[in-house]
Amino acid sequence: MLLLSGGDNFTGRDDREWKRQSDFLFELMGTIGWDLSAVQSTDLLQGLDVFKAKAAKQSIPLACANIADAEGNPVFDPGRIFHFGNKRLGVLSVVDPEHQNARTRIPDEIIFTDTKEAIEKGVAELKKRTDAIVLLFGGRRESALRHCDDIAGIDLILFGMASSSQRVPAETTMGTPIYTAANRGKDFGEITMTFHDDGSVKCSPFTVYELDKEIKEDPAILAIYDKYKAAEALRKSRSREIRLAVKDLSEEEVRHSYMGVEACTSCHQDAVDSFYRTAHATSFDTLVDELQENNPECVACHVTGWMVPGGFGQASSGRRSLEQVQCEACHGYGTAHSRSGNLVDFARANCVTCHSSEKPIDCGGADEKFDYEDSWKKIAH
Ligand code: HEC
Ligand code: HEC
Ligand code: HEC
Ligand code: HEC
Repeated sequence: MLLLSGGDNFTGRDDREWKRQSDFLFELMGTIGWDLSAVQSTDLLQGLDVFKAKAAKQSIPLACANIADAEGNPVFDPGRIFHFGNKRLGVLSVVDPEHQNARTRIPDEIIFTDTKEAIEKGVAELKKRTDAIVLLFGGRRESALRHCDDIAGIDLILFGMASSSQRVPAETTMGTPIYTAANRGKDFGEITMTFHDDGSVKCSPFTVYELDKEIKEDPAILAIYDKYKAAEALRKSRSREIRLAVKDLSEEEVRHSYMGVEACTSCHQDAVDSFYRTAHATSFDTLVDELQENNPECVACHVTGWMVPGGFGQASSGRRSLEQVQCEACHGYGTAHSRSGNLVDFARANCVTCHSSEKPIDCGGADEKFDYEDSWKKIAH
């Protein structure tokens, strides 16, 4: 038996939620023992290297015949050949660029080559080396039909994005059966392919199995799901903690607010340019990479204005605009701007609130002895 699927089926609101879901889904697929995963548009949002590394870690083969890098070289294997006794089954995969629910955020490093050409070429190659061919089409049925209707040699087409009315079996004009696979994890489909002595291949009708209460949960899979749910619940409660965290400040301090780095650009372009070259400018991204962006124990030193009114996480400020250790994390409230030397004095004394050997948490950067002069040179502006 072969387990084939389209890529991760994300339901998250944004890239960060996708990223967390994809970690979870990869673990699931790895544990189940997936035979091949067709690449889908949402898979690409996390960046090619990250996506490939996750699949490799779980030993999940990826395939897509029509994704290339900026130089036009294929990024994935077009498909894969599976052996059953003396018979060989070729599985080819394409993604439909016309159906990109996240089209605009696909990384620039990726190019979609012509879908139909990729199918024709892939089928021609596989025909020489296999006894039957399955096409995984990452798109809608109409589009799959439009691209494959006149291509001979495909024995079965499985398409990805289906409305419920499309879950009835159909055929191309060449007589190739075309089905859709599972529906958001609520069921899965099974097809048996029989190789006949005369070289022909026959597909059984598509059987759908509802994954309802009748089907017992697998403890190993359930454990992974529980772990994910617990992590999400913790993330949610922590995000609330972050919003509530404010320390007592004087009335004078409360009058002021953070403006964000963009507000400094018009007058301090040079400082802004050099700021973006330092690790402070990506300090929050570091936490996102570690899946710790909602951990109050971490954000404290990786954002601007932790624990103070108008700072990171406070309702009155757009939260995202105060991610990273920005200008005001060192210089203080932008609205308190003066030319008296105060902002500079404040910044000099401020480093050690985050850089000190008594960090409550050992987060990789040792910082055993923080030396102001030395450190300033590395971020001077
Ligand atoms: C609000 C907390 C905070 C303050 C204040 C702060 N830093 Fe940092 N600093 C960080 C974090 C977090 C990182 C690590 C960022 C990462 O790697 O993602 C960092 C990294 C650095 C680095 C490594 C930079 C690089 O580009 O490799 C230097 C040097 C540094 N800080 C110097 C300073 C100096 C000097 C001050 C005071 C003028 C200061 N920092 C103030 C949080 C802070
Ligand atoms: C008290 C302040 C503080 C807290 C709390 C904190 N960090 Fe950091 N973090 C820093 C500073 C400062 C640096 C840069 C240290 C350096 O360059 O020596 C840093 C650097 C890092 C780095 C980059 C390490 C490297 O060398 O590439 C990572 C990753 C990191 N922090 C993750 C975390 C995580 C995860 C947490 C929560 C568990 C956390 N931090 C909590 C201050 C803090
Ligand atoms: C990591 C902390 C930190 C960050 C982030 C930071 N600064 Fe500074 N900045 C300092 C310190 C410390 C000094 C004084 C350095 C010294 O002379 O010892 C300074 C100096 C300055 C000065 C005075 C320079 C001069 O000597 O005339 C300006 C202007 C300034 N910063 C603007 C900015 C702007 C704008 C940003 C954001 C784009 C920014 N800073 C980000 C710490 C920081
Ligand atoms: C409308 C122009 C303007 C904007 C916007 C602006 N500044 Fe300034 N800033 C100045 C001028 C002018 C000085 C004095 C420069 C000098 O003396 O060389 C100054 C000085 C500073 C100094 C040194 C002050 C001191 O204590 O002596 C810092 C630090 C600074 N600005 C940070 C910021 C930050 C951070 C922002 C964004 C939140 C910002 N500035 C936005 C015009 C501006």
